[in-house]
Amino acid sequence: MKWSSLLLVFSLLAFGTSCSQREESCAAPAKKKIYNPNGDSELALLMRDMFDEGMRVKEEVAVGKRPMPKWDADAIFTAHATQPDKVATPEFKAYAQAFLEAAKAMEDASPEAYRQSYQGMVKTCVACHQEVCPGPIVKINKMLLDESQGL
Ligand code: HEC
Repeated sequence: MKWSSLLLVFSLLAFGTSCSQREESCAAPAKKKIYNPNGDSELALLMRDMFDEGMRVKEEVAVGKRPMPKWDADAIFTAHATQPDKVATPEFKAYAQAFLEAAKAMEDASPEAYRQSYQGMVKTCVACHQEVCPGPIVKINKMLLDESQGL
């Protein structure tokens, strides 16, 4: 095999692990090197925090408490992303706005509606990810409450 065809095979493999396939991150490794030589992007770190905090909140919601997520959600608009072109779109901004509003709605939710408002917030995480970054959806789904007995 010639070097050029080896290179082609390699780049195909590299593409195969980008956004839709990688479970943890949605950044293509090649781009990550260009935009992000020092490790994870601000947005990726913010997202990881939101997931950890989300799992903590879920545990409390599951036993009937009304915790408020403590996260700097507004930073979603300003945090530097691994792939800046992905977050510079009107779609990204609309999904981010929907997420912020859903998180805010948790503050106003009555005790009876709290589980639903939490669940709705998680679904706005998933909605954005379906559009811009499917990789972490499996992970985010762990934040969902079990709906089998109703909410
Ligand atoms: C408006 C769109 C949007 C919303 C809403 C959103 N995400 Fe993300 N998420 C992204 C993008 C874009 C990335 C890729 C970040 C990067 O690599 O710079 C990402 C990355 C992630 C990652 C992978 C981070 C890593 O380790 O690389 C996780 C986990 C994640 N999000 C969880 C969540 C959770 C949990 C929520 C809701 C509480 C959420 N996301 C809401 C767009 C969104």
